[in-house]
Amino acid sequence: MKFQAPKGVSEYLPGRSVAFDYVRQTLTTAAVSAGYQLAELPVFEDTELFARGVGETTDVVTKEMYTFEDRGGRSITLRPEGTAGVMRAVIEHGLDRGQLPVKLWYTGAFFRAERPQAGRYRQFYQLGIEAIGLNDPEIDAEVIAVADRGLKALGLKDYRLEITSLGDAASRAAHRVDLDAFIAKMNMDEATRTKAAINPLRLFDDKREEIKIQMSKAPLLIDYLSAESRTHFDRVCALLDSYGIEYRLNTSLVRGLDYYTGTTFEFVHEKLGAQSAIGGGGRYDGLMRQLGGADLSGIGFGMGLDRILLACEAEELELLDSDGLDLFVIALGTESKFVASGLVNSLRSEGFNIDMSYGDRALKGAMKAADKSGARFSLVIGEDEVASGQISIKEMETGESQTLAITAIADFLDSF
Ligand code: HAM
Repeated sequence: MKFQAPKGVSEYLPGRSVAFDYVRQTLTTAAVSAGYQLAELPVFEDTELFARGVGETTDVVTKEMYTFEDRGGRSITLRPEGTAGVMRAVIEHGLDRGQLPVKLWYTGAFFRAERPQAGRYRQFYQLGIEAIGLNDPEIDAEVIAVADRGLKALGLKDYRLEITSLGDAASRAAHRVDLDAFIAKMNMDEATRTKAAINPLRLFDDKREEIKIQMSKAPLLIDYLSAESRTHFDRVCALLDSYGIEYRLNTSLVRGLDYYTGTTFEFVHEKLGAQSAIGGGGRYDGLMRQLGGADLSGIGFGMGLDRILLACEAEELELLDSDGLDLFVIALGTESKFVASGLVNSLRSEGFNIDMSYGDRALKGAMKAADKSGARFSLVIGEDEVASGQISIKEMETGESQTLAITAIADFLDSF
């Protein structure tokens, strides 16, 4: 029997894994630079947490969750997203009783039983941040700026930021009255009408031409913002302007999760085809209370690392090999190998990235391995080198060599 990975999962192996790690590291750096602290969270949670947090009627909860009964008869779900788990941890551990906002970042695998296609996986990776406890436009702008800084640090250019406000409860109630009246007069099948009765905003995201045409005249939530929501949103936009972050107002932006209120946004890459959302997020006013915590607001984002890597590849960006090897050591002969192995071991302890040739490879094969390793330098140790204590170290890119004492290798590598 030949095993294969389960259908639709993403995995990163040598060749791409360094680039993937570089994407994750770059976004992490952006989060840490703004004072976010790591939250390492469980990959599975109580099913009810997602049903209540993400929304009972969302596609994520009704169709896409990996839910199973554990050995104790509890209903468990592999996390489809990160925000609900973060809120659970904040409430459970009382993190909101200290300084506000609580600022956390997290990364890892997430799971949604979607139909696999390019850029859409059943196991995928996100890096997210959440700022919990204050409803302040400066925080909204900070969260968006962190994501944007991460994307720019990777060198990405062909993406846009779409932003809107879903307003507060009063704004949404006023809009809902007019939207329901508008929908009542629309032509649609019964199934669509039932869906619209639960969350009419989803009709803005309907891909069918006949619905799209009708919805193009529907009343927009942005025109119903309360004075408070309007002021908040205007301030967020003014802050983004002042940071030089470009954005496009998308008044029909619909997110797949139900907890959003106020500022809501998505980063869209122009070269990714159908699965073009490389990240998204927004504010969630009622979520914490909904999950049994205090009535505090929060805002955050989830960036899709798989899609961001695809976007980097589409833009042909050179992602730095941050973990590259400093040196590849080739040893010839049993005695030399013993010496080389000791040298490699001590250089690794000093913090250098070193690999060496193993087995009984001839010099030619070992040189090939050195080439493939991507190491910056290589050296050969044979009987003569062991006897003299001198080696010749070669810079792989230029082919230039210089001779130095074996004891001076660490200082030599350090000088780069
Ligand atoms: P989301 O928009 O559902 O938001 O997911 C965030 C990002 O994860 C998407 O923009 C996309 O890049 C990536 N993603 C989602 N599903 C898949 C998939 N099946 N395959 C590959 N990539 C995928 C959230 O998850 C929210 N928790 C974000 C958030 C945090 N909002 C507030 N705080």
